[in-house]
Amino acid sequence: MIIGTGVDITEVGRLRKAIEKWGMSFLNRVFTKEELKNAKTRLNLYPHLAGRFAAKEAVFKALGNVKLNLKEVQILNDKDGRPYCEILNGETKDKAKDVDILISISHVKNYATAFAIITQKD
Ligand SMILES: CC(C)(COP(=O)(O)OP(=O)(O)OC[C@H]1O[C@@H](n2cnc3c(N)ncnc32)[C@H](O)[C@@H]1OP(=O)(O)O)[C@@H](O)C(=O)NCCC(=O)NCCS
Repeated sequence: MIIGTGVDITEVGRLRKAIEKWGMSFLNRVFTKEELKNAKTRLNLYPHLAGRFAAKEAVFKALGNVKLNLKEVQILNDKDGRPYCEILNGETKDKAKDVDILISISHVKNYATAFAIITQKD
């Protein structure tokens, strides 16, 4: 059963400007070590990071009223490239143990979009 949905669109240039202005302090505030490690392998670095950012925002919307910061929603890719989401905040992780968080990401040069669906586990 679907219990929440969320969508977000992120401007790649805006994210790029923030990274160029604030550097690692911005990156470390928004992305986890694993996400940054994953991003280093990408030719399309900024669209990729914008996709991650959009996915985090989409997960916030789908989860509703849950206290989380951007780094507590980790978005990685499986061996086939499919994105998946992990909640890293202990308290919320416990609350989210009965749900599955499904995400999908798409990006072009200037925009990245993502949506998230929360389903109740069987
Ligand atoms: C996966 C695929 C649909 C991506 O489409 P695209 O138009 O090139 O790119 P988009 O910008 O729309 O989507 C890119 C995002 O799709 C997601 N993605 C990649 N592989 C995926 C997969 N197998 N399933 C679902 N989502 C996938 C990723 O989140 C990726 O962004 P990220 O790598 O920055 O996280 C396309 O490459 C495809 O059809 N591939 C064929 C299947 C395939 O190659 N599978 C991998 C086998 S090793």
